Amino acid sequence: MGGRALVQWGQNRDNAPDGLHVDLYAGGPAPAELNEVTFYQVPYAPSTQGVDERLEIIGRMPRLRVLQLVSAGYDQVLGLIPDHVTLCNGRGLHDASTAEHALALVLAAQRELPRWAIDQREHRWAPAPQRSLADSRVMILGYGSIGRAIERRLLPFETEVVRVASRPRPEEDVHGVDELPALLPGVDIVVLVTPLNEATRGLFGASEFALLRDDALVVNVGRGAVLDTDALLAQNGRVRAALDVTDPEPPPVDHPLWEAPGVYFTPHVAGGSTAFYPRARAFMDAQLGRWAAGEPLANVVRPGR
Ligand SMILES: NC(=O)c1ccc[n+]([C@@H]2O[C@H](COP(=O)([O-])OP(=O)(O)OC[C@H]3O[C@@H](n4cnc5c(N)ncnc54)[C@H](OP(=O)(O)O)[C@@H]3O)[C@@H](O)[C@H]2O)c1
Repeated sequence: MGGRALVQWGQNRDNAPDGLHVDLYAGGPAPAELNEVTFYQVPYAPSTQGVDERLEIIGRMPRLRVLQLVSAGYDQVLGLIPDHVTLCNGRGLHDASTAEHALALVLAAQRELPRWAIDQREHRWAPAPQRSLADSRVMILGYGSIGRAIERRLLPFETEVVRVASRPRPEEDVHGVDELPALLPGVDIVVLVTPLNEATRGLFGASEFALLRDDALVVNVGRGAVLDTDALLAQNGRVRAALDVTDPEPPPVDHPLWEAPGVYFTPHVAGGSTAFYPRARAFMDAQLGRWAAGEPLANVVRPGR
């Protein structure tokens, strides 16, 4: 396929496949000649909310055939592209980065690292008994690409993993989400890592919290709105939480999440570490090569119709 590609990284231009003109765009004011663009990779911005210039310019690309995201989530663009445009995401590019952060959140919460960091700043030496990750039963709710990467990191910590996806896959020992009521009372830690869609919005709410044992931990590295914030706040510390994504995101300065007992959060930084960029650049080179050669694209989440 020829035409013009608008992508983020310089090496794509240097290695541009024959027949494909590649322009660079890292966000900000729109580049010229948008009306010629057939392939657009939206510049990476991990936690941007709403529609900004990177997304607004999609409406000025009448020849667009492929919209490529390098994020795994694509909920933010579904309403912005016509049906004939093929949508591809960055599935896999964030696995190492996001899984590592999920582990960091689990360990920080279990071993109370935020507490010791505050004590250090206040020159206080106050040891206390600690929870462990070892011997815990950990549910991965959203056993997909990142979920598998989380499991690979959890198992060496001597944990037992319970796999849950939208539908059961008995051959892989994956439970369906309908089994949550039976499974939740038996787990110590739940890691949420589903996409945000109509089925997952508010998926983890008051009834799910009610089934968890006291002092259980809920980690969310998927999307903020998968977890019902009011239901979490109502726990008042009975169940703990370590979040990379929140609803609202970011919480307004006077939001109760900032002070909620047993709740730690990081500002949506799980996926965008140094482990992401080399994987994303290599993927984009290969994807542009496929597009230029007329080969099937990777990571198609919604084919153009
Ligand atoms: N915090 C960050 O910085 C960060 C970084 C990267 C990604 N993310 C988020 O992580 C999400 C997952 O990424 P991924 O690459 O692992 O996606 P994926 O490979 O598509 O896996 C998603 C998993 O979620 C499951 N799922 C979907 N709907 C469900 C439901 N209603 N109930 C239970 N499970 C459900 C899917 O089940 P099936 O297998 O049955 O389809 C699948 O196992 C992304 O969509 C994005 O929102 C966050």
